[in-house]
Amino acid sequence: ALAAPLDRFHRPLHDLRISVTDRCNFRCTYCMPKEIFDKHYEFLPHGDLLSFEEITRAARVFIDLGVRKIRLTGGEPLLRKGLEGLVGMLHALRTPEGEPPELTLTTNGSILARKAQALKDAGLDRVTVSLDALDDAAFRQMNDVDFPVAEVLRGIDAALKAGLGPVKVNMVVKRGTNDAQILPMAEHFRGTGVVLRFIEYMDVGNTNGWRMDEVLPSQQVIDRIHAIHPLHPLEAHGPGETAQRWAYDDEGGEIGVISSVTRAFCASCNRARLSMEGKLYLCLFATHGHDVRALLRGDPAIGLAPVSDDQLRAALAQVWAARDDRYSLLRDTAAGEALRAERKVEMSYIGG
Ligand code: GTP
Ligand code: 5AD
Ligand code: SF4
Ligand code: SF4
Repeated sequence: ALAAPLDRFHRPLHDLRISVTDRCNFRCTYCMPKEIFDKHYEFLPHGDLLSFEEITRAARVFIDLGVRKIRLTGGEPLLRKGLEGLVGMLHALRTPEGEPPELTLTTNGSILARKAQALKDAGLDRVTVSLDALDDAAFRQMNDVDFPVAEVLRGIDAALKAGLGPVKVNMVVKRGTNDAQILPMAEHFRGTGVVLRFIEYMDVGNTNGWRMDEVLPSQQVIDRIHAIHPLHPLEAHGPGETAQRWAYDDEGGEIGVISSVTRAFCASCNRARLSMEGKLYLCLFATHGHDVRALLRGDPAIGLAPVSDDQLRAALAQVWAARDDRYSLLRDTAAGEALRAERKVEMSYIGG
């Protein structure tokens, strides 16, 4: 067997994020702004998407290379028809330790109430729900399709009831847009067992018009909450965790902050991303993907036959071994500037 590869900065491969669709029913302004993702926008045709069989085969090979955690993302992953079928197929895979891989899902929660139990039954371990405001008017403005917050809260409840916990909630904080929602969100989820995480607004993609002055540094989020409900830091669960964890001094539970802008965590980044059409990206801010679909299917146009699992494993190991991506560390350097000039992949395509 091939040893699990390390990349050029000695980082192992541990998390695989699989995006299953480029579509979403929301138009969050920082991710799929309406002006660009309008009725003329061309989403991928179904035949370009990896089938569940192809995804599962790739995942099996990635497990050989060290992957122990698989996260399904989108666009909105629950828009992919029969997603619980894919969950079942991935849950049937085994790590060398004889366990199924840890299976999680990041969703906007809009149709989660309907799907939570089926996902749990198929083998999903946990869900993370994106929610940027608790106030209904503010939330409708953030998703920009007038979607009511009550329905997402119902989805979170359904996930808790189905046993898809600990449920995490992701709030992207934009200074001047939804930072007034930080305290209401914290109050709402305190003591519920839901882990609320505040995410620094990132310069992903090319369409969201990111500006540094719209980033609220996580330290300020912590300060604001700490002033009302005192907090203390918690140890990380393990290497490569995106969030820094904090606990309320009383019995309120824990929160997290994800500070990719003010405190880059590239040094321990163990994540690979597979797009819906089978391109492998080594960084959230990557400019180019590696064509895994061509390996899986073969590509007559370039005289490429489908590869065996052994060949696929060797090819992916080589790609990982050559990885030197670390955009968040480079953001403010000439190298970061050059990456930006090359156009980075969109958030809705790569799934966060
Ligand atoms: P857990 O395993 O449950 O902690 O999930 P996660 O934080 O790895 O994934 P999630 O989908 O909840 O993402 C949370 C936020 O972190 C989103 O804004 C992601 O875009 C961001 N994120 C996830 N992975 C990376 C990463 O490797 N680099 C950067 N810069 N941001 C990331
Ligand atoms: N910056 C930070 N987080 C973002 N997300 C989407 N766009 C951005 C951005 N520009 C979040 C989503 C979801 C997660 C996968 O990424 O809200 O919770
Ligand atoms: Fe959809 Fe999530 Fe992007 Fe919002 S952030 S548009 S819910 S994919
Ligand atoms: Fe990993 Fe790229 Fe995010 Fe850094 S910026 S943590 S290398 S995905």
